[in-house]
Amino acid sequence: MVTAGTTSRPVTGAALRDRSILRHELAPGTGRRMLVEARPFVGLIVLLVASALLSSAASVLPLMLFQRIIDDGVLGRRSEVVVQLSLVVAGLAVAGAVLAIVERWCSVRIGEGLIHRLRTRLFEHVSSLPLAFFTRTNSGRLVSRLAGDVTGAQQAFTATLTTAVTNAATLALVVGSMLLLSWPLTLAALALLPVFLIPARLVAARKAAWSRLRMDHNAQLTETMTERFSVSGALLVKLFGDPTRERDRFDAQAAAVADDGVRMALAIRAFVAALTLVGALATALFYGFGGLAVIDGRLTVGTLTALVALLARLYNPLLQLSNIRVDLMTAMVSFERIFEVLDFAPAIRDAPGAVDVPAPIGVEFDDVHFSYPAAEDASLASLAPDAGLAERASGPVLKGVSFTAPPGATVALVGASGAGKTTITHLIARLYDVEAGAVRVGGIDVRRLRSSSLRSAVGYVTQDAHLFHDTIAANLRYAKPEATEAELWEVLDGARLADLVRALPEGLATVVGERGYRLSGGERQRLAIARLLLRSPAVIVLDEATAHLDTESERLVQEALDSAREGRTAIVVAHRLSTVKGADEILVLDGGRIVERGTHDDLLAAGGAYAALYSG
Ligand SMILES: Nc1ncnc2c1ncn2[C@@H]1O[C@H](COP(=O)(O)OP(=O)(O)OP(=O)(O)O)[C@@H](O)[C@H]1O
Ligand SMILES: [Mg+2]
Repeated sequence: MVTAGTTSRPVTGAALRDRSILRHELAPGTGRRMLVEARPFVGLIVLLVASALLSSAASVLPLMLFQRIIDDGVLGRRSEVVVQLSLVVAGLAVAGAVLAIVERWCSVRIGEGLIHRLRTRLFEHVSSLPLAFFTRTNSGRLVSRLAGDVTGAQQAFTATLTTAVTNAATLALVVGSMLLLSWPLTLAALALLPVFLIPARLVAARKAAWSRLRMDHNAQLTETMTERFSVSGALLVKLFGDPTRERDRFDAQAAAVADDGVRMALAIRAFVAALTLVGALATALFYGFGGLAVIDGRLTVGTLTALVALLARLYNPLLQLSNIRVDLMTAMVSFERIFEVLDFAPAIRDAPGAVDVPAPIGVEFDDVHFSYPAAEDASLASLAPDAGLAERASGPVLKGVSFTAPPGATVALVGASGAGKTTITHLIARLYDVEAGAVRVGGIDVRRLRSSSLRSAVGYVTQDAHLFHDTIAANLRYAKPEATEAELWEVLDGARLADLVRALPEGLATVVGERGYRLSGGERQRLAIARLLLRSPAVIVLDEATAHLDTESERLVQEALDSAREGRTAIVVAHRLSTVKGADEILVLDGGRIVERGTHDDLLAAGGAYAALYSG
């Protein structure tokens, strides 16, 4: 009775842990580095261990006192013994409650503190990685690592540590007390242990396999939903999908998840029932043999009562401890995965003795050769998208590009899609390093410039002009946090966007971006130009969106661009004739090479690729 009720429930969770993780080989040094992470919490950890030890003592001692209360007090008819010992039991209960709170407080402080530290470090580190990392990384996996592994890692110093200490202490006290009371019955109870452990191992292995299957099935289900319910996915389904086929497919996936659930619940229930039975049989054994021993006078009634109460506390700690290695290993694997990310060094870093960009600032490409890095160089294998694992480096994307944009000049890049225009813009801010040749800004190789200085010297309007899901003001201030409202209006005016923003009900406080107010393509670009103007860089890089704008929109973007170009060096990827015409030099790119260069009039007169591009 007691045995069954108190031990079976907490036991199953621990006893049915997936043990396959024990085969994992940790990276060398993981354990040592884990301890280093624990160092700031040493005081709390000591307090946690102490309170766990004391609280398990406070919970086992009253059971021992049962013997004295019954034999000396009740049967000996000494009421003062009964009262005193009952008060002691009450005192221990109060102490136990206080200790439990102290223990929890320590464990939460350690756990949350560690999560906070690791999370912040991961965020800072990942943010510092080069762009190539993000193009080669599955962002879902990265985020789940930041969120999940960090939580998993703290378990080592909280749940696992508490479990180990509490259960080891409880076990020692329970077994010690039982041996003192009756060693033959204690040994008999311990002999039943394999009856718990062997089925536990067998069921655990099955359950692990099933729960992995269930996770796969659940993931499929989620994937189907997120994909179908995204705007573009929903559109595709509406235009091309067959509703019956869609429904049947989803039905089959949902049914698989349901079947997995039933199977697992039944297996666990059967296991719990078996455990309960064994526990109840052990109790019966104690009552039977113990009762006979009491009749024979070899055991007192108090001893038997205490033994039965202690028996109820015997198996749970044993089962929990039998899986402590699994828990510890799980936490260590989380640490290992966190360290893996932290150890991944950014390939693009400031050189020792890096300098600031000197004025006046022009841009120069000197025989630049470039290929995009392969996935394995740019990201971690465990974070790369599955399809990207085998992905090699791109072929050569730039094959000997040379040009000069003197300070204040505008250079336009034109050419077919995939010719390498965006790539050239990426190299100016050193988002990637060249393979051969050099990119110079202000006459100095970008690899010798301080990245913060380079970043404030070169401003971008990228092809997709990304905006954060935030207000217009916040998006603008991302470029200059201290900008006043007057400055914001000034740049909006320069970007020919002030009238539009003034007409919005919320004005500067209008939320834009992913789920906010939908700006049109042209408006988005103008907002990005306003953001750039706020930064006021010496060099502007504008990657025009390929999407066609209507004439009015095009005129506004052009005006915004002209106002941004004033007094600055500009590198413009141009799709619009109006932009190209005003350039000091036009570079026509094809397959990573500059095939023609000159002014608009020169190139038209030459009648080559450029003339063909703009003849239509
Ligand atoms: N992150 C990347 N990894 C690997 N290859 C890339 C990457 N980005 C671009 N490429 C490849 O580099 C080549 C040049 O791309 P780029 O984006 O520079 O073209 P583009 O001239 O800007 O084209 P568009 O006019 O369509 O914008 C293309 O073949 C493209 O597939
Ligand atoms: Mg491009």
